[in-house]
Amino acid sequence: MQSRDLPAAFGQEVLIDLTRPIEPAAQAWLAGLMRAHGLLVFPTTGLTADQQRAATACFGRIMRNLEGGPLENYVSNQRQSSAPDGELIFHYDYAYDRNPTEFISLYGEETAPGATPTRFASSARALDLVPATLRAAIEKRHALHACFMDRAAPAAARAAAMDDAIPRGQPGWSSADWRIARPLIWQNRAGVPCLYACLQHTLRVLDMDIADSDALLAQLFDTLYRADNVYEHQWRPGDLVIWDNRTIQHARPTPAAPTRTLRRFEVCEEDLTNLYLAIGRANGYV
Ligand SMILES: [Fe+2]
Repeated sequence: MQSRDLPAAFGQEVLIDLTRPIEPAAQAWLAGLMRAHGLLVFPTTGLTADQQRAATACFGRIMRNLEGGPLENYVSNQRQSSAPDGELIFHYDYAYDRNPTEFISLYGEETAPGATPTRFASSARALDLVPATLRAAIEKRHALHACFMDRAAPAAARAAAMDDAIPRGQPGWSSADWRIARPLIWQNRAGVPCLYACLQHTLRVLDMDIADSDALLAQLFDTLYRADNVYEHQWRPGDLVIWDNRTIQHARPTPAAPTRTLRRFEVCEEDLTNLYLAIGRANGYV
């Protein structure tokens, strides 16, 4: 068992045999690596779904499907996919929920040379990079994140979006209520602080004029997405990539043609993806 830096400012490449049972000491070592680095890449020569799930379970509860079994999905240009097609700009999955997915696990089941990469940006590292004046400007500020409105929406519409959604699970909830305000400086369950804003879902900073909010977010995004805070993973068959969805954002550039089939598990206390897929399939975007 050993790990080494990725060719990036964050994340680790981890060398461990995941085809054999992962002993408690190794599980603890992996959990510690995840707390410290947020993104782990495991080059393997092939993993079954059960082996991927066992590795992912080192980080918490595997999301369940509607039948109560582990929820196994695919992100693929060859078969039914649990993610929309096309480019996906930087986001956290379920940034707009009170309980976003904690960890995401993708395994390169079939990836051809030139397959579309996955990009990662560290929100934890970004918090260390922002100048002191900017950090002071975001202390105690909250931002509003939404599922079905994005930053391309007119300023007036974004300014009118409020932190008044019906909580998920309550009578009257609809997908338009899938939005939430949370501190711009947030933390994951392990207490790792991060700069919590993303290009796709963050509509505005609350209690601030929309033009000032846009200017502030632009400054934050300049830091989050600067080249030295982004790692681009080129998929090789057998790669397993697991990351902390609360401190690391991900994106997919405009898709290329080569085969790309990634098997996916998620770690979360709640089974959000069942709800997401029901809404997405009813509306035809997944
Ligand atoms: Fe995603």
